[in-house]
Amino acid sequence: MSIVKIKKGSALTEKAEALVLLLPTELKSLKGLAKEADGRLGGLVKGLALEGEFKGAVESVALQRIAGSGLAFDWLVLVGLGDEKKVDQQVMRRNGAAIQARLAGLVRSAVVAVDDLALDGERAADLVQAFVEGVELTAYRFDRFKKAEAPKLRGLALVSAAEGFLRPARKGAARGGVIAAAVAQARDLGNLPGNHGRPKMIAAAARAMARKSGLGFKTLGRAEMQKLGMGSLLSVSLGSPHEPQLIVLEHKAKKKNARTVCLVGKGLTFDSGGISLKPGADMDKMRYDRCGGCVVIGALQAAAALQLPINVIGIVPSSENMPGGDANKPGDVVEAANKKTIEILNTDAEGRLILADALVYSKRFKPDLVIDLATLTGACMIALGQHASGLMTRDDDLARELVRAGERCHERTWRLPLWDEYAEEMKGATTDLKNLGGRYGGAITAGAFLENFVETGRWAHLDIAGVSWDDGARIYNKGKGATGYGVRLLVEFLRAQA
Ligand code: BES
Ligand code: MN
Ligand code: ZN
Repeated sequence: MSIVKIKKGSALTEKAEALVLLLPTELKSLKGLAKEADGRLGGLVKGLALEGEFKGAVESVALQRIAGSGLAFDWLVLVGLGDEKKVDQQVMRRNGAAIQARLAGLVRSAVVAVDDLALDGERAADLVQAFVEGVELTAYRFDRFKKAEAPKLRGLALVSAAEGFLRPARKGAARGGVIAAAVAQARDLGNLPGNHGRPKMIAAAARAMARKSGLGFKTLGRAEMQKLGMGSLLSVSLGSPHEPQLIVLEHKAKKKNARTVCLVGKGLTFDSGGISLKPGADMDKMRYDRCGGCVVIGALQAAAALQLPINVIGIVPSSENMPGGDANKPGDVVEAANKKTIEILNTDAEGRLILADALVYSKRFKPDLVIDLATLTGACMIALGQHASGLMTRDDDLARELVRAGERCHERTWRLPLWDEYAEEMKGATTDLKNLGGRYGGAITAGAFLENFVETGRWAHLDIAGVSWDDGARIYNKGKGATGYGVRLLVEFLRAQA
């Protein structure tokens, strides 16, 4: 549940420690509720909004103490809306984040007047949803091993007297709360250190979530994988004493004949590189190599909570990649569940090996659509940086739908080509495939490799290597670590499909 409450009425008579007004740039004079507040405060709002440093830029905050004045608040807070005509979900998300970041520690409760945004209908729901996401995601801290010292707001009310505000705003707030909780779930699992986030531990966490959410759950271990001929996935786990898992979550739509979407997420719990060992610097970050899987688990949690009218199957191949005595070696040959043979030329290109068998497994659900998410290549990070995932698909419509969904929820993705020439590079000399392409275009050759294991319907691959964790630079990932990138994108995409 979110701390954000929706109320109809006058913000000025609410009980809270801070009154927040949202004001745009290029403001010449106060109007509406801001003007009313100004009257009650003897011109204080005007002074702060028009005569000081505050210019109304998105995320900017101005504070003034008003205890003992004409209103029963301790603080007057202005938050910048930017250009009034360009207020969208991302503006509201950033402002929710700014309010959480600036007011927590100063006050416990705040009321935000949104009358002047004239919120109603779907727009109200969408903007409030994004606002709640910003508020909640900014409060997120990974506090399993140390109590978080960062304070959080306890209560935040969005208030407007406008007709038609209440119902859509409540709907949007509920949706934002569900999405933020799903992102937090993905972050929690992604942030676990390697020794607390083994494949079986991720499976156990997914099971607990599934039970609470009413999702179907099962997990396959080594024996079942052997029966299914998953020699590729199994080979990656050989260098570790910890058993790999193939985690399966199932959300069933209420209506019959609903379409089926499979979400496949790389859940590599720690990527040392294996025998092709990675360099030491920053190797701790390779705990985040399970983020694709964690995001799929989060997305399934949201699909259940939102009761999406599509069947959604989450499939998470999970393994460690370690250099134990039995580990894959360069030159080893394995056979995937679809009987294709693969020469392993670099044991650090393991993500594609575990995804191969998971993609083959997805076929049994007869999906209309398969989307995989994986922290697959450093090359993708080099190509796109930390602001977009790499999208690879042969399906132009699907590409467009994913790019658009990403723009709407500000988890953006950018398409890379997936042409036959790239696929050629992945063919083996004495095997069907090899797991290593040429020197260039590494994100794309990895995608081209995966394509060999998709046999049904439409498919898209998202390389999330650059966006899955950060150093806290994003305002709504103050706590650093796993970002949960992909949960919002998948939910937005799935809602549009429905
Ligand atoms: N998990 C890594 C990709 C990665 C690297 C993600 C750095 C985020 C930051 C993946 O398993 C990997 O090691 N890929 C190799 C592939 C190469 C050996 C073809 C890479 O990108 O270097
Ligand atoms: Mn690797
Ligand atoms: Zn990896």
